[in-house]
Amino acid sequence: MNVAVLISGRGSNLRAILEAEKNNNLGEAKVTLVLSNKPTAKGLEHARAFGKKVVILESSGFKTREDYDKELVKILNEHRIDLVVLAGFMRILSPVFIEAFRNRIINIHPSLLPSFPGLHAQKQALDYGVKISGCTVHFVTEEVDGGPIILQHAVEVLDDDTEETLSQRILKFEHQLLPKAIRLISEGKVRLEGRKTRIVS
Ligand code: GRF
Repeated sequence: MNVAVLISGRGSNLRAILEAEKNNNLGEAKVTLVLSNKPTAKGLEHARAFGKKVVILESSGFKTREDYDKELVKILNEHRIDLVVLAGFMRILSPVFIEAFRNRIINIHPSLLPSFPGLHAQKQALDYGVKISGCTVHFVTEEVDGGPIILQHAVEVLDDDTEETLSQRILKFEHQLLPKAIRLISEGKVRLEGRKTRIVS
């Protein structure tokens, strides 16, 4: 199963995926492409260190979001991508992209969805005062952070947490959850039933 990982920044989740692949922990999945909308994304260093094909697709050359997404779909199809993994890809996706890869796009989000979708999820959780937060891997649909949930992991929020400390603790579990979700999907173990998923063994 050919996987493309889309990033915009640091790329620590990308690195976790690449390490899982190296350690034969990614099932039938093979990362065949790393794509960034930012040429300066730090995560590209990981892609290059692991010898992965890198494509930079900046938004500046495109008039509309749809035009950008059409080009994105073209590139992904050229590389025969089966599964698209959003790992800190900071763009809203248009229906052009979502329809082309329906049920084949997953995202990692640093909260227990449906709580705290959108940006700064960890700060939202702290400001709200929840005692438990965590991370979620979900299929991507037109609704931002609203698609069927594949895996979640809970993380306790401590009284003296800052946005940074909570983010760091959640991130450790993101690094486990995202490669695991890719592996399960590649092994055909994630069944989509309406807006729910079921993990089969
Ligand atoms: C992660 O917190 C992820 O949950 C969110 O963006 C961040 C990306 O971090 N979607 P990194 O680039 O993988 O280090």
